[in-house]
Amino acid sequence: MYSAQLLDRFYHPRWVGNVTAPSASATEGNPTCGDVVQIDIQVIDGAISVARFRTLGCAVAIAAADALCDLATGQTITAAKFLHVDEVIAVLGGIPPKRESCAAAPLAALRSALFSVSGGPAAGRRTVPEPKAGPPAGH
Ligand code: FES
Repeated sequence: MYSAQLLDRFYHPRWVGNVTAPSASATEGNPTCGDVVQIDIQVIDGAISVARFRTLGCAVAIAAADALCDLATGQTITAAKFLHVDEVIAVLGGIPPKRESCAAAPLAALRSALFSVSGGPAAGRRTVPEPKAGPPAGH
């Protein structure tokens, strides 16, 4: 049911916790279950230097948030906005059917945090958007 990669991140998450004095922090909910995930980021010189998460969510949400922190660290704000849920799922080695919203919730929180430091319409959103497009060519 769960991949070895997903189970490893569920049992041994690397990035759970908070960032002290974060540049931005955002919490988003998964509308299908009511669970929530918080992402804290520290931004230095336009790039994410640290990302941490906390969630009241399932194994997929925990593993996805952990994977997302890895994917986001080192990315510029602009590049991180284009991270796609498929990239998160790939790091996890796949997820069970009909669980994409669990993997997307951390991404929605990251985007809200990014928009709160850079400005944009997603600041303050409380729902999980369905990504419609992947990252731009060459990303
Ligand atoms: Fe709630 Fe997965 S079932 S986040």
